[in-house]
Amino acid sequence: MITKILKINAKKPETSKIKQAAKIIKDGGLVAFPTETVYGLGANIFNEKSLRNIYKTKGRPYDNPLIVHVADLKDLNVLAKQIPKSMFKLTKKFWPGPLTIIVKKSEKISKIATAGLNTIAIRMPSNKIALSLIRTSGTPIAAPSANKFTKPSPTLARHVLEDFKNKIPLIIDGGQTKIGLESTVLDLTSKIPIILRPGKITKENLEKILGKVRVHSHKNKKPKSPGMKYKHYSPNAKIVLVCGKNIKAQISNIKNHYLRQNKKVAIIWADKNVETLSKNLFKKFREFDNKKIDIIIVESVPEKGLGAALMNRIKKAASEIINAEDRS
Ligand code: TXA
Ligand code: MG
Repeated sequence: MITKILKINAKKPETSKIKQAAKIIKDGGLVAFPTETVYGLGANIFNEKSLRNIYKTKGRPYDNPLIVHVADLKDLNVLAKQIPKSMFKLTKKFWPGPLTIIVKKSEKISKIATAGLNTIAIRMPSNKIALSLIRTSGTPIAAPSANKFTKPSPTLARHVLEDFKNKIPLIIDGGQTKIGLESTVLDLTSKIPIILRPGKITKENLEKILGKVRVHSHKNKKPKSPGMKYKHYSPNAKIVLVCGKNIKAQISNIKNHYLRQNKKVAIIWADKNVETLSKNLFKKFREFDNKKIDIIIVESVPEKGLGAALMNRIKKAASEIINAEDRS
């Protein structure tokens, strides 16, 4: 199979090109497409063979469920068994956008999509190409991030190509994704809603609509979101996260330590704003891998707002977390 790359105008997706992509989805193929968060690897939610193919292509364990993408609120009736009132409050405020909501699953949906769980994760992306593709395909689209298992999520079409060259028929190139970190995943099936994965829509944003919201703690034994038990977002390089006071001086010490061992070192400084850092984090991870960097030192950012999501991804990727105070 030869992978085709189709450039589509992100502001005004060309109908004829979207039709080409939609035909592949309808015929049971996989299409990588941009969303506002990261690129997704999409398949028809009603085609079990295609759903299996997503796991196979990614090398993703079968116990890690997919997110289903919709373009219309009407689709919720097919996907969900019950739609709690709180869901409509959320969709009104945050959809289309980077919020994935977990509710009880309808019998009509294959357990392959939900990895055997009786709940389903749903989101309406705001990216115009994504919305148009879902509409034209005439079906909700199941799509995990379009990266090989454990690789950083793709934020450019070329990242998808790095992982899936000649493994999938089509990659839509819609440019760099706006947010760069995956959506917030919120579980509405427990009494108090729980954030399973932090993202651009923050706890504070959600609490304004829902009242109390919990954040799932990784210290709990059993992960609520199957994806949380796997090491994620990791480039080949070793990532050292540096927190605490006097960070700059510590980073310079750590850098010199590795340079003395003849390692190739790169640093990600937190000087830029959190939006820019988030947008470029996974891209930098991939670039550093391509440059065969051995050690990536990352300066921590305050864990509030989008910073909480950014730090969540960095911590998951990090092999070592150093508190600068401990070292001085
Ligand atoms: O921004 C995003 O969410 C991107 C774009 C493509 O939409 N998608 C994405 O999908 O990040 P994926 O498959 O890489 O991550 C989905 C996460 C996983 O951690 C998975 O375990 C969790 O959502 N998840 C999916 N269904 C679930 C369910 N029913 N219960 C708990 N967690 C679920
Ligand atoms: Mg993923």
